[in-house]
Formats: sequence, C-alpha cells, structure tokens
Amino acid sequence: MKIFIDTANIDEIRTANEWGVIDGVTTNPTLVSKEGKDFKSIVDQILSIVDGPISVEVISTDSKGMVKEALEMAKWSENIVIKIPMIPEGLKAVKILNEKGIKTNVTLVFSVNQAILAAKAGATYVSPFIGRLDDIGHDGMQIIRDMVQIYKNEKYGFKTEIIVASVRHPLHVVESAKIGAHVATIPFSVIEKMFKHPLTDIGLEKFLKDWKKVVE
Ligand code: E4P
Repeated sequence: MKIFIDTANIDEIRTANEWGVIDGVTTNPTLVSKEGKDFKSIVDQILSIVDGPISVEVISTDSKGMVKEALEMAKWSENIVIKIPMIPEGLKAVKILNEKGIKTNVTLVFSVNQAILAAKAGATYVSPFIGRLDDIGHDGMQIIRDMVQIYKNEKYGFKTEIIVASVRHPLHVVESAKIGAHVATIPFSVIEKMFKHPLTDIGLEKFLKDWKKVVE
C-alpha cells in the first residue's frame, strides 16, 4: 500500500519524506488555510520535496470553473493531481480532464455508489473519508472493503485507485492495508504513532546501556 501524507505543512512533509515512507501528498482547502501562506508557494515547496502525486483541490463548483482551475494547476508539474468534489458537475469535469490526460482525485466520497460513479467517470483516484463516517456512527472501513471488492472485478475494467482518507489512527492504516486499498493518506501525527512500540524503546535503551559494558 502506498502512503501519502495528508497535510500542507512543509515541515511535516519534509520530515516524513526524510524518513523514506512517503509516496505522495494530499492537501485540501482546510489544510492549506492552516498554513497562512499563499497556495502556489506551498505547492511549489511540496513539489520540490516529494517526487510523487500531489493532490490540490479546486474551489469552483461548476465544471467549467473546475476545468479552468485544473488546467492552470496541472501546468505546475506532472505530479499534480486535481482534487474534485463528488458532485455531478465534479464528475463532468473529471471526464473532461481524463480525456486531456490530467490526473484527478474525487474527494468527499462517503458511499460505495459515489465510488462506482467516480470510477465510471474515469477518476485516477477516489478518496473515501472513513474517519468522518466513523464520527457519525457508520463503519467507514466497510466502504473500503466494498470498494476494493468492486474495483478489483476485472470485468468492470476500473483503473481508479482508492485513497483511504480521513484516517484518524494507526488501526485505520492496518485495516486499509489488509483489505488491499491502493493508498492511505495519513496525517503526520498518525504516521508518528505508527513508529511507536514500547518494546522498541525498552530494547534500544537496554542495548545502549549494555554497550557501555563492552570492553574496548
Ligand atoms: C483527504 O484527502 C482529506 O484531505 C482528509 O483526509 C480529510 O480528513 P479529515 O476528515 O480529518 O478532515
């Protein structure tokens, strides 16, 4: 499973990239707004750090506006992926962008039906938000199971990759990988938690303590 980092924070992206665990980045308007910097300069910095798909979101809600924004942003790099909301106008834009060879990520997906439509329209990626589903008492991971099952049916010829989004804790990552999702996009704080195991810390402390007893 590929790991994308779900943030627009340059320090977090740089740090996780140096760990060697990052295949791409996803941003959204909320994440960008937290940084207090202009959008293009944030994206330029991300592009200079990570050599992989970088999702950037349109803010238009009509297909014409979305395509216009997408064509502009796609000029920034071949790694740019255009994030498009899961609405009818959005899928109209996805179809047009797909025909132009521009990669898309259909976002704000909360149901299997939406995922089927996004794949039919030719989305490169689809982003089901599992944490937000869990928040309202639904089983977010179940839609990942259903989507993986449907997308892998060769008769359908779907090429869309599933990005598990709205990841809240390390178990979401483990479950996504077991199910066979293509990608999980993970906040920095959750990636940090994935490192942690008390036996690693205890073991390292003992190794270092014992090393001091080694005769030089
Ligand atoms: C994914 O593309 C979104 O940016 C993100 O995962 C949303 O997560 P949230 O529900 O924590 O805001």
